[in-house]
Amino acid sequence: MEATLARGLKDVVLDTTESSFIDGEAGILLYRGYTIHDLAENSNFVEVSYLLLYGALPTKQQLTDFDKRLIAHRTLAPEVIDVIRLVKDAHPMDVLRTAASALAAFDPDTEDMSREANLRKSERLIAQFPTIVAAHHRIRNGEAPVAPRSDLTHAANFLYMLEGKEPEQEAVDAMDLDFLLHAEHGANASAFAARVTASTLSDMHSSIVTAIGTLKGPLHGGAAEAVQKMTTEIGDPSRAEAYIKEKLAAKDRIMGFGHRVYRAEDPRARHMRERSRVLGEKMGHSEWYQILTQVEKDMAPYQSRGIFVNVDFYAGSVYALLGLPEDIFVPIFAIGRIPGWCVEILEQYDNNMLIRPLLQYTGPKDLPFIPIDQR
Ligand code: ACO
Repeated sequence: MEATLARGLKDVVLDTTESSFIDGEAGILLYRGYTIHDLAENSNFVEVSYLLLYGALPTKQQLTDFDKRLIAHRTLAPEVIDVIRLVKDAHPMDVLRTAASALAAFDPDTEDMSREANLRKSERLIAQFPTIVAAHHRIRNGEAPVAPRSDLTHAANFLYMLEGKEPEQEAVDAMDLDFLLHAEHGANASAFAARVTASTLSDMHSSIVTAIGTLKGPLHGGAAEAVQKMTTEIGDPSRAEAYIKEKLAAKDRIMGFGHRVYRAEDPRARHMRERSRVLGEKMGHSEWYQILTQVEKDMAPYQSRGIFVNVDFYAGSVYALLGLPEDIFVPIFAIGRIPGWCVEILEQYDNNMLIRPLLQYTGPKDLPFIPIDQR
């Protein structure tokens, strides 16, 4: 049978899912049937994590119990902190990948492949990622890691562990919204990579480590960092047009634009745009928002080719306004995406089939072997 070549697996439907729905033409994103706009306005990251993992919105009691379990799991094994110290000079995403791998050695359920154990591991991973990122940030700056606080929300505790002081409510709200908007997105490159690993019936931590490595690239999670670098380089809205012209003439991409699935505006971008505007005004730093909106205007002709802003376009400015260093933008994406990765892995285990595509060979086929002394 002649197989069809599908480079980049573009438009290939891998499997069925109940966790998220994306209509790329209309710019629609649903988590378990709920529109992202409704969730962004009315829910929070912890509730959305429950929704994704357990398939339905929690009752008050279920949410309280879930939150309590997450809070209880925030603290890392001292050995994992030791591992972070050993690799502290690496990129924060590499440190997260290494620490996530180390978590497996201290998780009592690592080798237990039952659904219940995989849900327990998912909860621990959601709880522990922020602690890893914050502990590394402190250690590399020569400071002691800040122990998690059980009286703070998921987002507030993350900012607290980074800075060592209680964050302002606006910062907490922006962080929580950012986590929520990044929580799940179908068969994106990192979730797909996690599914490939899970499909060999390898364990959950291995699948998550695969996902972290895949998210790091600038065509995926690295875009927010690249956008912030671009914003700094442009420096002033009046220079946006010339910058874009120059980049496009050199066949470079404008980071934060374009998406494999969306041919309309990424529905998550509107919430990050608004948060960037509000935070910029509050902090007295509207210049980044102004540069970004100008870039968006100057890129308008590309909309006819289906190229619009994606979630990462305004995300970088929000992180920068929160005072976060550029190299932890991708790990922050990972903190938000962990429930999505976990639910994709769980779905893969529930209805597993080894993921193993083909390659079309284009090399020669009839070369005679030449002994080494005759080459
Ligand atoms: N700037 C300029 N042109 C672009 C951009 C962009 N950001 N994105 C796509 N294009 C153009 C391509 O040059 C190509 O043009 P051509 O047909 O004339 O060669 C066309 O649009 C299609 O691009 P592809 O790369 O084939 O589309 P694909 O679906 O593979 O790309 C991707 C999606 C990788 C996200 C791309 O849009 C891109 O590189 N964007 C910039 C990086 C980025 O922002 N990544 C974050 C994605 S969102 C996320 O991961 C959360």
